[in-house]
Amino acid sequence: MNFYTQELLKGQRALVTGGSSGIGAAVCRALAKVGAKVVVNYVSDAVGADQLVNEIEAEGGTAIAIQADVSIEDDVKRMFSEMIDAWGSIDILVANAGIQWDAPFHEMTLEQWNKVLAVNLTGQFLCAREAVNEFNRRGVISDISCAAGKIICMSSVHDIVPWAGHVNYATSKGGLLMFMKSLAQEVAHNRIRVNGISPGAIKTPINRHAWETHEAEAELLTLIPYQRVGDPMDIGHAAVWLASDASDYMTGTTLYIDGGMTLYPGFREGG
Ligand code: BGC
Repeated sequence: MNFYTQELLKGQRALVTGGSSGIGAAVCRALAKVGAKVVVNYVSDAVGADQLVNEIEAEGGTAIAIQADVSIEDDVKRMFSEMIDAWGSIDILVANAGIQWDAPFHEMTLEQWNKVLAVNLTGQFLCAREAVNEFNRRGVISDISCAAGKIICMSSVHDIVPWAGHVNYATSKGGLLMFMKSLAQEVAHNRIRVNGISPGAIKTPINRHAWETHEAEAELLTLIPYQRVGDPMDIGHAAVWLASDASDYMTGTTLYIDGGMTLYPGFREGG
């Protein structure tokens, strides 16, 4: 399905962290389809990133792959320099890279805690800081967008839904919710928009165990009133809208894209 014109993000330069697979890859495809140039960031999956770049280019889009670990400050600075050297600036940051490293709380190691917080939360800080500095340096170019820049923080329903066995992950996403709002408040007067997307269960490698067998999927669907597991492109389409001037008056807000997972499905009959 193609909801948008091919010109919607024409001339805009986007960076998608964790762009080589899952939700990130769908966001790269969706942005490229409407005319944005896309940096596909990856940490270790060079093959996946190159394949995606080739696919986007085969369809007439423009993309490059840049390796960087978003939790390492020097990597992030290098990635932004490479992007700005290549294309002059950045208009859209989709801070998407995220990991799960699950454990029952009493067994969770400090390494598991630190790693998840480093990628999911500190990674967003490091990338957003570089983007904000570049947006402020450049200011608004009205031919390109009403805003000086747009940041989309990829969060999760678990920024408001507690998740036993995943305390590190849910904490990182809960922190991200307030990161997004506080940053939005701080930079709005510079015409920088910061919003979040909180996906529910989307079919990607991160949660394969939860949907790949029939039994697992049936169990998962008890948590989803809309009765289907999400497709990565459900998120891709929303990212396009949030990155475009169609959402120009929106900042500091989160789109929950979850088939109703955050509607307390148990209360349909209970309570
Ligand atoms: C997690 C998935 C999970 C989904 C819904 C996401 O943030 O990464 O593993 O299926 O939330 O619970």
